[in-house]
Amino acid sequence: MTSRARGTWGHARAVALFRAAPAFGQAPSVVATRPASTVPTAGYDLDFTLPTQSKSGCLVCHGDPDLVRLKAGKITSYHVPADQYGSSVHGSQQCVACHLDFAYKLPHDTDAAWQLTAKTACRNCHDEQFIAFGKGVHQRAVDATGTRASIEAAKPLCGDCHGSHGIQKLTDSKPGQAAMHASGWQVCGRCHQDYWDSYDDYYHGAAYKRGAEDAPACWDCHGWHDIRPSKERGSRVSEANLVETCGQEGCHKRSTVDEEFASYAYAIHNKRALKRENPVYQAIRSLFRFIWKD
Ligand code: HEC
Ligand code: HEC
Ligand code: HEC
Ligand code: HEC
Ligand code: HEC
Ligand code: HEC
Repeated sequence: MTSRARGTWGHARAVALFRAAPAFGQAPSVVATRPASTVPTAGYDLDFTLPTQSKSGCLVCHGDPDLVRLKAGKITSYHVPADQYGSSVHGSQQCVACHLDFAYKLPHDTDAAWQLTAKTACRNCHDEQFIAFGKGVHQRAVDATGTRASIEAAKPLCGDCHGSHGIQKLTDSKPGQAAMHASGWQVCGRCHQDYWDSYDDYYHGAAYKRGAEDAPACWDCHGWHDIRPSKERGSRVSEANLVETCGQEGCHKRSTVDEEFASYAYAIHNKRALKRENPVYQAIRSLFRFIWKD
């Protein structure tokens, strides 16, 4: 790819875009006045008018699969597939509902924080979840300093767990729930590699990683927006709440779950540690060590 990718679009490209645009929602009544350019590095100014600040307008450009730019030597796509967006739960929302800082102006007049804005704009419409999130461990303390500052910055924002243009309906939606259930590594594991790895007991973790639909995802035990550390009373996996969490609908039969049953919850992340502590296991291990001299 040459510098052409970074440069301006010629007349032919602009015409192709306007032909593609009506595929999504109402067609913006635009008139292409852009002349064919021979200067690949020229700025891409808007010299046509778009009727409103609608998503169809943004998609005049972003609906084009060929909208790529060269960024730090890599080809980056700025294409937003209109059909994927249209069938997401936000299909009828405006682009600027999340991209609060964007307008029909090129180059876009935004800074590096645009991703943060998009990943947190959710709060404007999802009050309940935003409030719950504020009570959980992933709420960021903005005044943190030193190492703590980098830990805070590593916490997930709404868009880090939910994604952006393909968010699906979850409530009363089997396909949406199933897709979420299968995404445990992306939603939790990629940041908690140690607990992802240790989640491998036969009944829960190993079954989950094999793809068993009825095996619990991380959040079926820990909760999702209001996650608390297990040593706190407010945590769903604190000792005080384990009976209820293990006995929740779809898990263990409530009448069979008592405190003794719940005490085995310790094994969920600690199968390997328990194996190491078990004397029989240790004896067998040293015998094999003796035979193979490892
Ligand atoms: C005239 C074409 C055009 C229109 C209209 C347009 N964009 Fe863009 N947009 C671009 C181009 C080109 C880029 C790549 C920017 C670059 O070169 O860095 C881009 C980049 C972006 C980015 C990524 C920013 C980054 O720094 O990586 C977002 C988000 C975005 N546009 C959102 C929107 C939204 C929302 C709208 C509607 C309000 C919109 N755009 C309208 C052409 C357009
Ligand atoms: C529900 C919120 C939401 C809506 C609505 C939304 N976006 Fe985004 N968009 C995001 C988030 C979050 C990101 C950042 C993704 C990342 O970097 O991980 C993003 C990223 C982008 C990018 C950068 C390239 C990419 O795909 O990551 C472009 C371009 C863009 N959006 C354009 C649009 C356009 C055009 C629309 C309307 C058709 C739109 N967005 C609607 C949340 C949204
Ligand atoms: C750590 C990952 C994570 C973060 C961060 C996160 N969510 Fe969620 N969210 C989930 C999971 C997992 C579910 C689905 C739980 C289920 O139904 O099994 C969910 C469910 C939802 C739902 C469906 C209704 C509900 O409450 O269950 C909405 C709406 C939602 N999240 C919005 C948000 C918003 C807004 C934010 C930011 C304030 C956010 N989420 C932050 C993981 C996350
Ligand atoms: C402009 C308002 C608006 C913004 C901003 C917005 N949403 Fe939504 N969202 C909605 C509406 C409205 C629905 C419900 C649509 C329906 O029920 O059909 C919805 C539905 C959802 C659902 C499915 C809820 C369920 O119970 O099935 C999730 C998950 C979700 N949004 C997450 C997010 C995330 C994450 C962001 C930010 C990246 C975000 N939303 C930004 C308006 C918004
Ligand atoms: C983008 C990275 C990221 C994602 C995704 C993420 N977390 Fe976290 N999580 C963190 C960070 C950073 C902390 C703060 C660690 C600290 O304070 O030392 C944290 C803290 C926690 C804690 C408290 C740990 C403790 O020792 O007190 C729990 C429990 C937790 N997360 C569970 C989850 C679960 C469950 C999910 C998925 C629903 C998840 N996390 C998704 C980054 C993430
Ligand atoms: C079947 C229930 C269950 C599931 C599913 C589960 N955990 Fe846990 N988790 C626990 C229990 C109980 C503890 C507390 C005891 C311990 O530390 O082993 C815990 C502890 C943790 C901790 C340490 C912080 C704390 O609160 O003590 C993290 C981090 C964590 N889990 C992350 C995850 C992640 C990531 C997943 C998904 C890969 C996951 N868990 C799946 C039950 C579960």
